[in-house]
Amino acid sequence: MKPETQINRRREEFPTLASGIHLLSHSLGPVPRAARESMLAYYEAWEHHTSEDAWATSWWEMSAHVGDRIAGVLGGAAGSVQIQPNASIALSSVASCFDFKSSRRNKIVTSALDFPSMEYIWDAQRRLGARVEVIASDDGITVPLERILEAIDDSTCLVALSHVSFRSSYRVDAQAIVERAHRHGALVLLDVYQSAGAFELRATEWEVDFLIGGTIKWLCGGPACGYLYVRPDLQNDLQPRLTGWVAHAAPFDFAPAPMRYTDSVGRFAQGTPNIPGLYSVLPGLRIIEEVTVKAIREESERRTEWMIDFALEHGWKVNSPRDVSDRGGSVMIYVDDGPAMVKRLNERRVFVDCRPGVGLRMSPHFFNTDEEVREAMKIVDEVNNGSMIQL
Ligand SMILES: Cc1ncc(COP(=O)(O)O)c(C=O)c1O
Repeated sequence: MKPETQINRRREEFPTLASGIHLLSHSLGPVPRAARESMLAYYEAWEHHTSEDAWATSWWEMSAHVGDRIAGVLGGAAGSVQIQPNASIALSSVASCFDFKSSRRNKIVTSALDFPSMEYIWDAQRRLGARVEVIASDDGITVPLERILEAIDDSTCLVALSHVSFRSSYRVDAQAIVERAHRHGALVLLDVYQSAGAFELRATEWEVDFLIGGTIKWLCGGPACGYLYVRPDLQNDLQPRLTGWVAHAAPFDFAPAPMRYTDSVGRFAQGTPNIPGLYSVLPGLRIIEEVTVKAIREESERRTEWMIDFALEHGWKVNSPRDVSDRGGSVMIYVDDGPAMVKRLNERRVFVDCRPGVGLRMSPHFFNTDEEVREAMKIVDEVNNGSMIQL
């Protein structure tokens, strides 16, 4: 492994790290110690609500505040992110903006490496007249860029892809896709759940139209707090059918229909915000902002490179791209019986997970030491009873 960098790992701020080697940032990050205080502040605001109106003093504005903090991580401007209950609802909100039946521009382009919600939600839009093209992956790891670009034509309304795949950590070329889509009059949505907090995102610079994701993985927030980024100059052109009173221009008028959307990203809200979810994400966001995503990515490249070299030297099948320029922050290593292997690793206090057909998913984050990463791979080798496919 290349020499250790000067990054501040802030390990003392994550009590869970004392229990073993945490390589689960693609799933659920460890709780920041400060989340305890933050959740207590939530409780206290609730308890004292009758003497000090919690909605008026903090809760009502909190969604916009957390949204702006997340916008910073995404490389977007303040006012570009609306908090959502989860990433699946964020995606459904975008889907509900399109009128597939009345337009000849009704094709959705997605890929086989996306999270299942993506396919389920787009498949459901076929009932409303959408045509859905799912770009295949020949190796289960990558989808050739040319294949994605070729699928985008003048009948495409939206290209909706995972920026980094949950099953292989394959990362698509966001800029090339946005360029091609915009040339054909199509919009682009990227699911950045597996890249936000692990890879530097540049929403404004890429001119991407939508980003969706959530905070419980690389951003060290608690379940659940999703988000939706909408390109600022696009926001007021859209009228999501998945809506509610909080998206109204004057919600406290409690006016009858028709809906009058507010002129901001707030039009992508639905109902009462998930206030405890918002409290749970603030401590993790602060740590990520302070450590910086740039430093996190540098660390990630150095360690994932070493893990892949280690796996290949041992003849294991790596189910992630070899080239760092095609990769997110996780490394997938094929094993025959994933659940059994995960159990053996957990017994040795190495915390990873597995997915069917994928194998182990292992994700070093900034708080992991180099020693932990080396130790984890050594233990994988020790508990591997021939369950890794030898190349
Ligand atoms: C890339 C990706 N998208 C979406 C999701 C699901 O998000 P949610 O449960 O917030 O809908 C996940 C969860 O693992 C994911 O990895």
